[in-house]
Amino acid sequence: MTRSGFELTPCNYATTMRGIFCQADLTCITSSADSKSIKTIFISLTRICFFSIESVYFLLGFVSMKTKRSWNVKPSKFAVNTVNPIRSIVDNLHINPNAAKSVISLSIGDPTTFGNLQPCPEITSAIVESVTSAEYNGYAPSTGYRKSREAVAEYAFRPDAPLEPEDVILTSGCSHALEMCILGLVNPGQNILIPRPGFSIYKTIAQSMEIETKSYDLLPNLGWQVDLAHMESQIDSQTAAIVINNPSNPCGSVFSKRHLKAIVEVANRNCVPIIADEIYEDFVFRGEEFHPIATLSTHVPILSCGGLTKKFLVPGWRMGWVLIHDRQNIFGKEIRSGLQALSQRIIGSNTIVQGALPSILQDTPETFFEDNIETVQRNAVLAYSILNDVPGLCPVMPKGAMYMMVGIQKTSFSQFKHDMDFVECLMSEQSVFCLPGRCFDYPNYFRIVLTVPEPLMVEACERIKEFCTNHYTLDTPTSSFNTEMLLKNQMPLQV
Ligand SMILES: Cc1ncc(COP(=O)(O)O)c(C=O)c1O
Repeated sequence: MTRSGFELTPCNYATTMRGIFCQADLTCITSSADSKSIKTIFISLTRICFFSIESVYFLLGFVSMKTKRSWNVKPSKFAVNTVNPIRSIVDNLHINPNAAKSVISLSIGDPTTFGNLQPCPEITSAIVESVTSAEYNGYAPSTGYRKSREAVAEYAFRPDAPLEPEDVILTSGCSHALEMCILGLVNPGQNILIPRPGFSIYKTIAQSMEIETKSYDLLPNLGWQVDLAHMESQIDSQTAAIVINNPSNPCGSVFSKRHLKAIVEVANRNCVPIIADEIYEDFVFRGEEFHPIATLSTHVPILSCGGLTKKFLVPGWRMGWVLIHDRQNIFGKEIRSGLQALSQRIIGSNTIVQGALPSILQDTPETFFEDNIETVQRNAVLAYSILNDVPGLCPVMPKGAMYMMVGIQKTSFSQFKHDMDFVECLMSEQSVFCLPGRCFDYPNYFRIVLTVPEPLMVEACERIKEFCTNHYTLDTPTSSFNTEMLLKNQMPLQV
């Protein structure tokens, strides 16, 4: 006897306990009995079971219907677990500026805030053309229009890190690219390595998916290079990716070729892929060089995340990308299709910006980038020269990006319990707002942004100086602090 006559109906229940139960029963009958009477008995038994289970379901439904009579809508675990440390720390600060002084906010990593840094005409006219062409109002493929991906592949292509349009996925900003990479490589219960101090979004994305984050230390006295031994010691059997951020927020550090190679070596030795956050690519001060980490790896697969946000000064346009570098085909088809599947969650990034991408990437003049970097570098030099003379402070001269970390010598300011206290009091007395190091998992520092107009930069630093002078509690700096200052300031000051 064949099974076909009995298989159809139960299959409708295959994914429920009930369906499994019925299917098992009927299959058992068909395979083991020929006698009509036995069959009838078994079918009857099955029906009894079927109806009893139906009744239980009915009763359960009735009970649950009753419990649904009142509203009880709760946020999902995913939403509850999504925490941006910067937001929660800043929300808990008591920010009361001194009414007699205008507020200078050195806290926001948005280069457009003050209006002194704006996209150039080539960038804005590319957008105008994209809108007026009416060609980009529909849905694009979720990974992006072919010609936009081609433009990114061409722009990011390096002989040592070749790219095809298929290696590019367009995203809604770099944070979306990072999310896609983390979710594409890591399962709940596994872990990723992240830099400390570091940008908070890695933790925000990971924790929401119950992915553990393990921090590796950056060393302020070595220009915020990675403590390689510490990084390697953090890797375990559950480590699914190492996140690198170069140039760095909040440190403003730029890694040398040699150092990047050493990082790649750690990843290679332990067979862990790299997620490279390179949103500040090329944003390096004169005399420094940016090396995409993918150009230094022949074996380690690398997902590089970038976008228009910082270099092109358009954070609000939300255009980012993932570049897949996988010369040994280690990611293979599986990871690529996983990333593609993830791109379908929001059905692709902004099409108007995608339409403008080829022109933006090809036509933006070099002078635009040079001018922006010069502005930020000049501010870095000014801020450093003022803050470095302030007893109790220990600024670390950046080499790129848009930020500077400033150490607070705790013993010099015994009145303050920690960096949060320090920034709150600075705001209430001097109306200068900086983010406490805690936002980057690095207490006893504060971060300043360097994209403000020059007069404001000077004014803000002078006020910080006045504040520190008023609260300084040591007559002479301790010798250990002097040594610390010397070590931290070993990077040459460039104008
Ligand atoms: C290091 C770093 N990565 C990623 C991002 C997010 O970039 P986007 O605005 O393109 O999502 C930022 C934004 O400040 C950042 O500083």
